[in-house]
Amino acid sequence: MAKITAVIDIGSNSARMAIFEKTSRYGFRLIYENKSRVRISEGCYENDGYLQEVPIRRAISALREFSAIAKRHNARKLLCVATSAVRDAPNRAEFLQRARKESGVQVKVIDGEREAWYGGIACANLSHKKSGITIDIGGGSTECAIIENGDVREVISLHLGTIRLKELFFDHKNLDAAKDFIKQELRKIPVHFSHDNVFGIGGTIRALAKMHSKQHKYPIKTIHGYEMPSKSIKSFIQTIYKTKEESLASLGVPQDRRDTIRSGALIFSMLLEHFGAHTITTSGVGVREGVFLADMLRTQKYRFPTGIYPSFVALKDRFGVVDKWGKLIAKEARAIFNVLSSVHTLPESSKHYLTIAAQLCEVGGFLNFYGRMDHGAYVLLHGLDYGFSHTDRAILCLLLEYLNKRIPQDDAIAHITDIMPPIQYLQWLSFILSLAYSLCLTGGSKLEYSYENGTLFITANTALTLARESVEKFIAPTHVLITFLESRG
Ligand code: LMR
Ligand code: MG
Repeated sequence: MAKITAVIDIGSNSARMAIFEKTSRYGFRLIYENKSRVRISEGCYENDGYLQEVPIRRAISALREFSAIAKRHNARKLLCVATSAVRDAPNRAEFLQRARKESGVQVKVIDGEREAWYGGIACANLSHKKSGITIDIGGGSTECAIIENGDVREVISLHLGTIRLKELFFDHKNLDAAKDFIKQELRKIPVHFSHDNVFGIGGTIRALAKMHSKQHKYPIKTIHGYEMPSKSIKSFIQTIYKTKEESLASLGVPQDRRDTIRSGALIFSMLLEHFGAHTITTSGVGVREGVFLADMLRTQKYRFPTGIYPSFVALKDRFGVVDKWGKLIAKEARAIFNVLSSVHTLPESSKHYLTIAAQLCEVGGFLNFYGRMDHGAYVLLHGLDYGFSHTDRAILCLLLEYLNKRIPQDDAIAHITDIMPPIQYLQWLSFILSLAYSLCLTGGSKLEYSYENGTLFITANTALTLARESVEKFIAPTHVLITFLESRG
């Protein structure tokens, strides 16, 4: 597969391009993203679906520039898909031909089921949650996919879109007719489409999530993986679709969303109700990532192998992490975790954090040796996009930031989500990782651990002078005495 791939999605509202770089077999990252307010569907819903001349021209000029940007990034492959408005247009052949001739881009029209599947495999592979229903609200259609244990099980495409409803109902101030129209469409959904968790895809839901996060003074700007309890957003969504367009600014709706957010909010609110969802997991990934992954994982049944996290792999690939050393620290950290299990009483699952943090503890050194743990902490919080929850990212960030130190009770990141574990839990992980890190400084020592009556005995076949010095400073959350013994081996 090409190292750099550009993907364009001509949605009915905006056209978007993403450029991905494959860093190794299972590592990839986003290197560029842009959108243009093409609104290819403009005017089409009142004209029997015919694409209009002005929006067609906007689309072609966006394609021309997207293609130039893709070349500038040395993209070897450019994949372009078009969704609802183009697929339903009686004059779509003419558009495809002109696009090809005037911009050089070969546009592929995908059907609603394919579109839903792309959104589905993107969420299934790149979200930290492995089950739920996706909702991708577009300008012309809305796609849903049921995801179970990382597999896309079923898909559906509905004729519900922000521009479609705006032009047909909201422009005529007819909220009740819009509700009736949505109700009719919802009848097409099989009854088993219901889930506690909804993955929210697309511009409308991302805009709503950003406003929610701002209202709640959320300390990081990352939107992918941002979770909202549906009860905390429902009344806000209702306020939005009932508010006049002129007054939306006061609710914090950004300029470019003001004419479509009301119809989008109405669709979203009715779907949430229909699926009985309690949590919305905001997705920063959708059709474009799906198109990219379908190509990358075509021989892997469209799934990353279990335990492979593409962002984790990409960080290791890019920051020149020495794999062997990180793995050694991870191994010792797990051994210390095990021997101290009766003292710290942390769940087995928390060993995962030690494994990941140990392997990435050197990433910050790429910037500067000094402050490398702070740099690394930032990289983990912002670089582990795919497959890690915000809680996971915050825990990993703290483990690096406070390596060889004590995590303070009042650190903002330690309280970023309401499911963050208690500070003692974090301090235990930090203590274990710091210990393992020190014991591996020289590498190659044969280490054994045992625990008895408040003392952790560390038996080593080397002197470990430096480790002994730094360990003196570590304070376990519950008192643990550390005693070094020398083996004869
Ligand atoms: C689409 O129509 O699918 C996208 O353009 C979504 C949006 O609201 O930008
Ligand atoms: Mg779309």
